[in-house]
Amino acid sequence: MKRIFLIGYMGVGKTTLGKELAAKIGFQFIDLDHYIQGRYQKTINEIFAELGESKFREIEHKLLKEVAEFEDAVVSTGGGTPCFYDNMDVMKQAGVTVYLKTDPEVLLKRLFAGKDKRPLIKDKSEDELLEFIIENVAKREPFYNQAQIVFETGGLVQRSDIAGHVDKLIEMLPK
Ligand code: S3P
Repeated sequence: MKRIFLIGYMGVGKTTLGKELAAKIGFQFIDLDHYIQGRYQKTINEIFAELGESKFREIEHKLLKEVAEFEDAVVSTGGGTPCFYDNMDVMKQAGVTVYLKTDPEVLLKRLFAGKDKRPLIKDKSEDELLEFIIENVAKREPFYNQAQIVFETGGLVQRSDIAGHVDKLIEMLPK
């Protein structure tokens, strides 16, 4: 097991959990969105606004294939990553895939507070956002559910719960 890919909807806590998991097992941590931002010297919002979503998906696919070659890495992906190109196959061939799953209401709480940095939701009201989350998660789950491991995070991933979640997740990883 050289790589672990964390997938799941925006706001579920892929980055927060990924960092802690990587530290605990001694792997490097890569956040795919940050990797993209570093390479292009632009925020995700700027890439969407200046180049459009389909170009973003192309870039995301290309850089996912790059990070899929890193050794001993925990990779947290973007919420849409598994749903474009053959990204799910790329990840499954390169390592273990983990779907971090939680309820739309929990995602809403987390996302509404920080929606400005996420281009797909930044202009939505709270009601519109809940509706969008429910519909979008339903569209994306056929991809997310292809993950080797489904990990239910329950409520919000709070700082105080993280160590427990990480230990539970480590238990579920192939030995
Ligand atoms: C997206 C999720 C974002 C980022 C981009 C698109 C999506 O990542 O890749 O804004 O399509 O769900 P996070 O899941 O880290 O917010």
